[in-house]
Amino acid sequence: MPDVITIDGPSASGKSSVARRVAAELGLPYVSSGLIYRGVTYQVKRYGINPDDEAAIVRMLGQHPVQLVPLPEGNRMLAEGQDVTAQMHTLEIDQAVSAVARHPEVRAYVYRSLRALQPPFVVEGRDMGSTVFPDAALKFYLTATPEVRARRRLGERDADYATVLAELIRRDAADAKQIPPAPDAIIIDTSAMGLEEVVQTILERIRR
Ligand code: ADP
Ligand code: CDP
Repeated sequence: MPDVITIDGPSASGKSSVARRVAAELGLPYVSSGLIYRGVTYQVKRYGINPDDEAAIVRMLGQHPVQLVPLPEGNRMLAEGQDVTAQMHTLEIDQAVSAVARHPEVRAYVYRSLRALQPPFVVEGRDMGSTVFPDAALKFYLTATPEVRARRRLGERDADYATVLAELIRRDAADAKQIPPAPDAIIIDTSAMGLEEVVQTILERIRR
């Protein structure tokens, strides 16, 4: 059984749903790295920090840390011990998160939190295979067209299709630096695949 399995990809490519299902099949925890960036962004907004002010964000995190709780049925985000998970997947956080996540010191904070976790686990994000866990035993990278991804996300946001698509394309561009797949990642285009088909494709590869 591999120690760390990474599943990366752009927004609404299916990372978290697939990671949760694959991990459950393997009896492992799954870890959502994006939820930590979302938690940090929540705190930036809560404390009125300028998202461009890297030093102020790092200072704020020293006083008001966030904690990821990787439960098998769904990862939880705690901000100073308070469960704020329900507020993590909003258009407001979507629109602000990339600006916060681009700072090297914020990324270092998230990398430390992730590397402190005890393997084995399945971890999903953007740069899990390329940067955070370069020695992961198996790396997957999910893709799908922006239109397919926007359709998938539509029911999960209080917004219309055009707004969801525009926001997704904007975030792809804002995340461009951390989005390229690891050179050794197995790339799966999920545009015409159902969730279960993606899960089975990955499990088949892991068990090979
Ligand atoms: P990500 O973590 O990459 O943002 P999610 O796992 O949250 O993506 O998936 C976004 C939505 O799309 C969810 O409602 C999920 O059930 C659905 N979904 C994911 N993968 C597929 C797929 N291959 N086919 C159809 N729907 C999918
Ligand atoms: O589910 P979705 O892909 O839309 O978002 P997410 O995985 O929760 O990630 C939210 C944001 O966090 C991304 O848009 C990136 O700005 C940032 N992120 C990152 O920079 N690196 C990661 N490994 C994961 C997320």
